[in-house]
Amino acid sequence: MRDKIVAGNWKMHKNAEETEDLLNELINKLPADAAVHIIVAPAFVNLASAVQHLEYTNINVAAQNMHQAESGAFTGEISAAMLNGIGVTSVILGHSERRAYFNETPELLKNKVDTALKNNLLVIFCFGEELKDRQANSHFELVEKQLSESLFHLQEKDWANVILAYEPVWAIGTGETASPEQAQEMHAFIRKTVEEKFGPSVSQHVAILYGGSVKPDNAKEIFSKPDVDGGLIGGAALKADDFVAIVEAAV
Ligand code: 13P
Repeated sequence: MRDKIVAGNWKMHKNAEETEDLLNELINKLPADAAVHIIVAPAFVNLASAVQHLEYTNINVAAQNMHQAESGAFTGEISAAMLNGIGVTSVILGHSERRAYFNETPELLKNKVDTALKNNLLVIFCFGEELKDRQANSHFELVEKQLSESLFHLQEKDWANVILAYEPVWAIGTGETASPEQAQEMHAFIRKTVEEKFGPSVSQHVAILYGGSVKPDNAKEIFSKPDVDGGLIGGAALKADDFVAIVEAAV
């Protein structure tokens, strides 16, 4: 049995004070002993305070991005070692917003994955098709390509530190979610694809999260599917009560 994971991607929301308020609410309301791994990803400037705030809790902190180089003259960028150095344990890579608005390519993501793993960060790797791909019935092919281009160079041991997050672009922030059956169908395909390349010990252990308009009222049904190991939550992660309800739906 794989553990369930619920991660909140706060995107470019919540200033320092709002971050502290939301974290306090989560600390008070989240079940302390839930058998669910909980991760939150606030904005870069609030990561250090979030780590300190959550020190004696079961909530881990992720970054939403990082640069692929170890260090150097890259004005405005943040390295994996900097994240690791302040106690951030994981990093979201390949989110569709970064692919679409910041031109992140499969090759770049491959480099980011390598740098993150080298610096002992757990990688939450996002991928998923656009509506046009699903309409053209090429969504399986596209997802396989996204996985192979950025992750198939990894060694078997690396997979202990990789979480997959299937996020169909048409379901992100739209209120339209994949049906539990669509999610299961794709997650089973993803697991099979990983198995064909890396074998069953990798494919049976890797967590595959679903992301895209997960809310308290649809979380339980989606999470109950056998190949769905939890969720990557956007909008609903910004409200403590909604996020707590989603975590409880994963228990
Ligand atoms: P929403 O839950 O707002 O659709 O966002 C999903 C997402 O992009 C998480 O990374």
